[in-house]
Amino acid sequence: MQSEILISEEKIQNRVAELAAHIDKDYEGKSPILVGVLKGSFIFLADLVRKMTIPHQVDFLTVASYDGGVSSTGVVRLISDLSVNIENRNVLIVEDIIDTGLTSNYILKILGVRNPSSLEFVTLLNKTECRKLEVPIKYYGFEIPDQFVIGYGLDYNQFYRNLPHIARL
Ligand code: IMP
Ligand code: MG
Repeated sequence: MQSEILISEEKIQNRVAELAAHIDKDYEGKSPILVGVLKGSFIFLADLVRKMTIPHQVDFLTVASYDGGVSSTGVVRLISDLSVNIENRNVLIVEDIIDTGLTSNYILKILGVRNPSSLEFVTLLNKTECRKLEVPIKYYGFEIPDQFVIGYGLDYNQFYRNLPHIARL
């Protein structure tokens, strides 16, 4: 497979440290729950939380919108739910990439009705060009053009999640 590095490992690590510092500052005293959206966010989440210093908890949910291809099917399904109650909690949803915004809007809808104190998004990658639905993103790592990317948790047919950098497929 041919692939070209779009964002190096070093750039990613530096940016993740900056995001962790922002989150530490904004959520000081708030004991946030960071919710990783599986599977794509697992590496970003793992690096992010290890760079944070404030007390926080971690939980996961799994959603699917791609059926193995390179474009969203548009139909988002909940595969597995949170394991904790988020009522009156500060929730920060951790995404690998926000593309059309369909997944994030679905997550906002299902978690919003559980009355969290706050519900925000941090995404490593932001493909604003592809947006179909607006998403209120509090933090993002990098803005990228409309190209399918792999690595650092992102897959193509479930492969390449282990690359330490982001590459163009
Ligand atoms: P959205 O619902 O279109 O915003 O897409 C959300 C999900 O699609 C992301 O969380 C990713 O799992 C996946 N996705 C979107 N773009 C890419 C890409 O370029 N590479 C790999 N996965 C992607
Ligand atoms: Mg994802």
